[in-house]
Amino acid sequence: MRKVFLTILLASPLIVTGCGNSQEQASTGGGAGVEPTTHKASYTADGHLIRPDNWREWIYIGTPVTPNGLNGGEAPFPEIHSVYIDPTSWKHWKKTGTFREGTMIAKELSMAISEGAHEDGSTDQVSGRGYFQDIFSGLEFAIKDSVRYPDEPGNWAYYSSGHAPGVAYPDTMEALPAQACNTCHEFNASDDWVFLQFYPVLKEAKGG
Ligand code: HEC
Repeated sequence: MRKVFLTILLASPLIVTGCGNSQEQASTGGGAGVEPTTHKASYTADGHLIRPDNWREWIYIGTPVTPNGLNGGEAPFPEIHSVYIDPTSWKHWKKTGTFREGTMIAKELSMAISEGAHEDGSTDQVSGRGYFQDIFSGLEFAIKDSVRYPDEPGNWAYYSSGHAPGVAYPDTMEALPAQACNTCHEFNASDDWVFLQFYPVLKEAKGG
């Protein structure tokens, strides 16, 4: 009885934050509120994903870098990618080495600092020549759910805010067609549609 009461008490602030993101959360990816015990995606009545809060406070798993300067001026995913997995799925991964039902992976893009850039887009900074994060330019999610996405290859659905530096992310997102996203993942990613090969944090922690 006491446990049930506590669960309700702990869960209720989340219902509030899950339904309406404050402006601060929208722009920072951080946010106040009680950490949920189980991380779960929420959807609008017409099935659009409500942008999950706090992805920057999830578990960081890796940073692929595909600068525009090394990709003919226009990388498909410009330029620096910060990838995170939700904490519930992280625990499951460490135990089983698999992605649980409900896994959420966020990939946030940012531009590279361009002032004084060489032809390849790199800049000289105090630590050396390289690529250094500038403003955010996009947010994407991959969500695995066999009940909600029974027909998606691998039961993964993909969402994207689009790529536009400095533009606020939408509060809701529509799932993208399989051929736009799943197909490349299906044939090139090394573990269950996920590019494990580029995520040292996940590789080292794989359980099971
Ligand atoms: C041409 C191949 C390709 C296509 C098409 C593609 N991706 Fe990916 N995606 C990648 C690669 C490679 C990674 C590994 C991480 C990185 O490079 O940022 C990745 C990683 C991701 C991740 C992090 C989780 C994971 O599976 O590794 C998300 C989220 C993601 N992509 C979303 C999308 C969305 C949304 C689309 C459709 C608009 C899409 N991707 C289309 C190649 C692709």
